[in-house]
Formats: sequence, C-alpha cells, structure tokens
Amino acid sequence: MADSSGDTRLQHNARLYIETVGCQMNMLDSELVVAALRQRGYTLTDDIGQADTILLNTCSVREHAEHKIYSALGRLKYSKRRRPQQVIGVMGCMAQKDQTLVFRRAPHVDIVVGTGQLAQIPDMIDQARQHRAPALAVSLDRQDGTQGEIADSFQSYDPLRDPEMRPSPYQAFVRIMIGCDKFCTYCVVPATRGPEQSRPPSQIIDEVRLLADQGVKEVTLLGQTVNSYLHNENGRTHALADLLYRIHDVPGIERIKFVTNYPRDMSDGLLQAVRDLPKVCRYLHVPAQSGCDEVLRRMKRGYTVADYRDMMHRIRETVPGCAVSSDFIVGFCGEDEIAFQKSLDLIQEFRFKNSFIFKYSPRSGTKAFQRYADDVNEQVKRRRNNEMLALQNEISEQDNAEFIGRDVDVLVEGSSKSANKVLEHDPGSPLARQLVGRTDCDRIVVFDGNIRLAGSLVRVHVCDCTSTTLLGSVVTEQVRHGSESLLPIIS
Ligand code: SAH
Ligand code: SF4
Ligand code: F3S
Repeated sequence: MADSSGDTRLQHNARLYIETVGCQMNMLDSELVVAALRQRGYTLTDDIGQADTILLNTCSVREHAEHKIYSALGRLKYSKRRRPQQVIGVMGCMAQKDQTLVFRRAPHVDIVVGTGQLAQIPDMIDQARQHRAPALAVSLDRQDGTQGEIADSFQSYDPLRDPEMRPSPYQAFVRIMIGCDKFCTYCVVPATRGPEQSRPPSQIIDEVRLLADQGVKEVTLLGQTVNSYLHNENGRTHALADLLYRIHDVPGIERIKFVTNYPRDMSDGLLQAVRDLPKVCRYLHVPAQSGCDEVLRRMKRGYTVADYRDMMHRIRETVPGCAVSSDFIVGFCGEDEIAFQKSLDLIQEFRFKNSFIFKYSPRSGTKAFQRYADDVNEQVKRRRNNEMLALQNEISEQDNAEFIGRDVDVLVEGSSKSANKVLEHDPGSPLARQLVGRTDCDRIVVFDGNIRLAGSLVRVHVCDCTSTTLLGSVVTEQVRHGSESLLPIIS
C-alpha cells in the first residue's frame, strides 16, 4: 500500500491542469514541469473542474499579466471550496517577484515557486497535499547576497526532455542561458529571472542531439539576451556563433533560430554565422524599444539610435534579405509627441518584419518606477500604440506583398488555427486541409495540404498575403521542375 511505504506520490487521482502566460521561457518551463509530473503519474487535463492539482505559470512583465493571474486565482477560491484536496500552485516570474504577497492576496494558494526552484515542484505538491501548509520556494533578491550566492539561488531547470510534452513533435525550445544583467530601467526580468548565466555548450549540444533523435527538426535557442551567451569550457570561451556551428552539425536538425537579441551584443562573428550556416534562419528579433536617444537613455538600453542604425547596416550588409523584428514600448516616462514620432521614423527607416508594441507599464522594484513619473496618460498610450501598430501593419503587408508570385520553403508546423476549429465540427470541409508553417525568414505561410506533410520542408508558391500571413499552394514536383521534368511524360 502506498501509505505504508510512505510514498504518497501515486495514490492521488493525479490530474494536473496548467495555465501558462508570458514568454517562450515560461512555455519551456511549463513543458519541463509537466514532463516531470507525468513521470510521477500525473495526467494532464484541460478541465480545471476535474483537476486536483492546478499550476499557474506566471509573468510580471506588465501589470495586466499579473491582474489576469490574480483574477484567475480569485475564481479558484470557489473551486478549492468544492475540492478541498486540490493543490493550487503559483510558479514563475510573479511567484519570484511577489513571494508571500501571493498568499496574502490568495490565501487558498498552497505553493509559490520562483523561476529558480522549478525542480522542487513535484515534491512541494506532495508535501502540500500531505501537510496542507503553504510553502514558498524562491531565489534571493538581487540585492540580498553576493553575485555568486544570488546566481546559485537561481537554478536553471533543464531535465531530460519528454517528447510527448512538446507542443509540436518537430519543434523545440532549448534554453541556452537564464537571467539578465542589462537592468533596463522599466524591466522586472533581471529580478524575476536572476543573474545572467550561460549553460555549458556540451550540455546544450547533448540536449539538441537528444531532441534530434526524438524527431525534432527545428530548435529555437532561448535567452533573454541570447546573443550575450558566453561560456568557458575546456579552456575555451564559447559565444553564440560557436554554438550555432556546433548545432549545425547535429544530424536531423534542419532549422535553428534564437531569441531574443540585444542590439549592443550583435557581433560580426554572429552575423557571419547566420550568413554562412544554411540551417540558421535569416531572421533576427532585436528589440529597439524606442527611436529617441533621450528615451533610450532613460530606459538605460545602452545604445543610441545611431548605434542601432549601425547594427542594422551591418545586418543588411552581412546577411542580405535577413528579416528583422522588434519590440517597442510606447508612453514611457517623459515620451512626448516628438519622441514618439522618432519611434515611428525608426520603423519607417528599418521596415521591421513585425514589431511587438507595448504600452509602458510601471513595475515596482524597477529603476524607472523609483526615478520617473508615469506621466503619459492611458489614453495617449493607447493612441500611440494604435498609431504605431497601424504603421507597422502597413509595412508588414507591403513587405509580404513582395513575396506574391515567389516560391518559399516552408517548414510545416501542422493544421492552421482555422483548420483546427473546423476539424472538430466538419472534417470534410476544404478548410480542414489548411496547413500552417514558416519560411526561413519567420514568415507565417498558410496553404492547403495533407496533414502528413507536418514536420517536412515543402516549397509553397505565394499567391496572396495579409500583414501577418502569406497565402499559397504547394508546388508539386512536376511544377517545381518546370517543363523539363514534364517532357518525358509528354513524349
Ligand atoms: N529580453 C528581451 C525581452 C524582455 S520582455 C529583450 O531584452 O528584448 C519583452 C518585451 O516586453 C520587451 O522587449 C519590452 O518591449 C516589453 N516590456 C518589458 N517591460 C515592460 C514594461 N514595464 N512595460 C511595457 N513593456 C515592457
Ligand atoms: Fe529586460 Fe532589458 Fe533584460 Fe530585456 S535586456 S530582459 S528588456 S532588462
Ligand atoms: Fe514574463 Fe518572466 Fe518572460 S516576466 S516575459 S515570463 S521572463
């Protein structure tokens, strides 16, 4: 009996519900935590009402993200009343940032686990179910120890991968570093993810090999400032470019991406690797944040518009045709109309493939929160956001239109969202055949085809577009080779 052995792990009706918000780092963390719990006998459920363990993987980057989590937690109070055996856990960035505040705002929460303690989650859930006492596991705050002590308190969580837990069998995220030391004045990430720490290259390569053996074709390397990657191993310093060369040699891997880049660390060596390695996507996400020097200075981004321009020129020169995307914050402290216009000018000048645009959200604990007044009102932030989005969409659509009439190579990811919707009700509908994939330059392509194409590289002829998507049809072998390959058939 489980009780007499003292092992309570598998005796529960172990149904797990998990909700994830935030960036790719959180998506990867959730995948790995779920895999660890599955090893202990948990099964995943989509029905929160049926779950006896509920985990919320949280984000603190903007206030809105936190609001959503606290409202979800509010609703869970009633669920816990109906099922007192339920264990509710809050993990991730908001857990690290708010710590015991989570228990105060939501007393029915059982465990709060920061980004550096994810390995403890399975045991903490068991303990919570046995003892019904709230438990907290978080790392040190960034001012509460030596650099080494703080770094040690943030443990990178990279257990063995479970192929069934990946959102796609052909694609995988691979963490190459954790944390951030840039301390942009608006940003909570250095506090929630701790000091910048790069994983040893040998570990990363082993993980990529394992993923390739499991059928993965595309890896996306993750880091808050992924191009700042540096690790000393066997007396040699390895930068991101060195990693790319080594991953490129792993059989089975067909595409390599990496996000997110920091403008100041975009080295020529890295750009040359992107140019020279055919498996590395011609796509760079390098957030500019603002087009105004004064705003960039207050953000403490560490570069000027002229530096960013120089970087863009190096990208365009070294890797012609490389798609570049960006992030912008509108309504940052002291951003007047002239400063905002400079951000629009930057978008006009560099014609980003796409931009993620955010309204500034003051975050307690950050330098901007302490130093500067949040002096752009919500209405103005919203207007600037919409204006910037309209400009970016116009540019994205124009640039996508350049692809009409051209053939592109697409890594097929699976059914498109609309196909997924239709499939449930009407599998015979032509829409059910809609597939989605991405080009080498990260453009989304939707086209008709058999779902068996998922995971393969196909050539698609583009015939239409929107600002976010290229629309096309698969080029069949005969068409692809033109009349030459048709000749023998005709004769
Ligand atoms: N490490 C990445 C991204 C971190 S967070 C980088 O340095 O680029 C993702 C994006 O959220 C940022 O690029 C920024 O545009 C936005 N962001 C971060 N803090 C914010 C805040 N306080 N308010 C609004 N947007 C914010
Ligand atoms: Fe945040 Fe700046 Fe670090 Fe990006 S580089 S995670 S924006 S502090
Ligand atoms: Fe959010 Fe944490 Fe990512 S704050 S953006 S989930 S690193």
